Amino acid sequence: MNDFCNKYPSDNMLLYNADQYCRKIASINYGKNAKYFIETLGCQMNEADSEQLAGMLTDMGYSQAEDISSADIIVINTCCVRENAEFKLYGHLGELKILKQRNKELLIVLCGCMMQQSHVVDKIKNSYKYVDILFGTHNRQEFPELLFDSISEKKKIYEIWEESRGIAENVPVKRSSTITAYVPVTHGCNNFCSYCIVPYVRGREHSRHPEMIKKEIIQLASEGIKEITLLGQNVNSYYCGMDFPGLLHYISDIEGIERIRFLSCHPKDLSDDLIKAMVEIPKMCSHIHLPLQSGSNKVLQQMNRKYTKEQYLMLIDKIRASIKDIAISTDIIVGFPGETEEDFNETLEVYEKAGFDFAFTFIYSKRTGTAAAKRPDQIPEDIKDTRFARLVALVNDMTLASNIRDENKVLQVLTGGKSRTDRSVMTGRTSSNKIVNFKCDNDFTGHLVDVKIKKGHTWYLEGEKV
Ligand code: 5AD
Ligand code: SF4
Repeated sequence: MNDFCNKYPSDNMLLYNADQYCRKIASINYGKNAKYFIETLGCQMNEADSEQLAGMLTDMGYSQAEDISSADIIVINTCCVRENAEFKLYGHLGELKILKQRNKELLIVLCGCMMQQSHVVDKIKNSYKYVDILFGTHNRQEFPELLFDSISEKKKIYEIWEESRGIAENVPVKRSSTITAYVPVTHGCNNFCSYCIVPYVRGREHSRHPEMIKKEIIQLASEGIKEITLLGQNVNSYYCGMDFPGLLHYISDIEGIERIRFLSCHPKDLSDDLIKAMVEIPKMCSHIHLPLQSGSNKVLQQMNRKYTKEQYLMLIDKIRASIKDIAISTDIIVGFPGETEEDFNETLEVYEKAGFDFAFTFIYSKRTGTAAAKRPDQIPEDIKDTRFARLVALVNDMTLASNIRDENKVLQVLTGGKSRTDRSVMTGRTSSNKIVNFKCDNDFTGHLVDVKIKKGHTWYLEGEKV
C-alpha cells in the first residue's frame, strides 16, 4: 500500500495501536464520571487534531465537561503561527495554576504546534512545573500511552518527536458537528514561505492514502454528515498515487455527502485540472480560499511565494471565467519586513482588482526560526497598525458589496441550527461559505434549504425560506 504514495518516499502509515492503554485508563475511570476539557487554539487543522484528542479521551472513559473548572483533565492544543496565539497559552496557564492548586488530581496536558519548539518546551519545564504531560504534533496518537504512564508512574511526561514518522490512521475521532466535518488529506508543508513557522512545527508534507480518506468519508456519510472540508496546509499539492483533482473525483460519488470544500490552496499549485474538477463535480462548493498574502511583487518574492501579482490576477480571471458565481477569499499579511508604503498600496490595489468576497487579515508577526525574522528591516508596530486598519476598512467595504450583490438571489443553505441569540432564526452557510440567517418556525437543522436573500450585511446575509 505504501508504494502507492510515491511522491515522498518517506510517506508511510502509522496504525493507531493505543486501544490497550485506552482500556486501562477507562477501567481506572470506571464509575468516576471523569470529564475532559479541550481548548483549541489556531487553525482548522488544530480543530481536526482536537477532534482526535476528544475521540481518544472518550475511549479512555472521559466525557466532555461543560466548563473548564469541572474537568478532571484539561488539554490545550496550542498554535504558534502568530505571537498572539502564544500569548493565549500563557494567559491560560495562569488560570490552570489556580485550578491545579484547588484540585491536586487535575491533569494538565499541553500539545500541538508550540510544543515542537524547544525553547517553549524548556520554558514550560522550568517555569510551569504543574503541567503534567506535553507532546507535539507528530505523536498525538501516543496520547493514551503517555497519559497511562503519567497516571501509573505518577510522573511528568514530556515526549516530543522532532519529525513525523508517518500519518497515524484509525485514530478515534469525536466530531464537534453532526452536519459538517473536517477531513485532513495532507499534513505538513514544504513551501517555507519566509514568514511562516508551520513547516518547522508540522514538518514536511505527507499525503494520506486515498483509500483511508475515502473510508473516513464513507463513515462520515453513514453518520449523517452532509458537508466535508478537505484540509491541508497546501491541500492542492496532495499526491498519493493520484493528485488533488484526482482525489476530488475519487471521493465525489459518496452517497449522503452533499457538499465538498477544501482549504487552503496555494496559488502556485492551482492547476487547470483542479478548476475543471470544480466545474465537473456538482458537489463542489462555489468557493475557493486562495491566500494572496501581498500585492507587491517585491514582497511576494521575499515571502518566497513563487508567483507575481500579475500571475495571481490572471489566475483569478481564469477561475471566475470557468466557475460561475464562485466566491473567492484570501489571506493578507500587513507589515512584512521591508514593506514600504508603495508595497502596501499595491496590496490594496490588487485586493480591489481581485474583487475578493472576504478575507482573513493578519499583522505580520515575527516567528523565531523563520527567514523573515532575521531581517533587520522589521516594520514598527504603529505603522503596521495603521496599514492594518486601512486594509480592514477596504476588506469590510468589499465584503459588504459582495453580500449586497447576493440580495434577491435564491441561495441553497446548509442549516447548522438555530441562532443562539434568537431561537426563531435558523443559521447556515451558502455554497459560497457565507453565513445566512433566516426566520423559520420549523427546525431544518442539517437540511439544505432554499433561501431568498433579503439583505446583505457585512458579516452575514439575511433571508427568507422559499
Ligand atoms: N505573521 C502573520 N500572519 C501569518 N500567517 C502565517 N504566518 C504568519 C506570520 N508570521 C498567516 C498567513 C497564512 C495564514 C494561515 O496565517 O496569511 O495564510
Ligand atoms: Fe505557511 Fe506558506 Fe506552508 Fe501556508 S504554504 S503553511 S503560509 S509555509
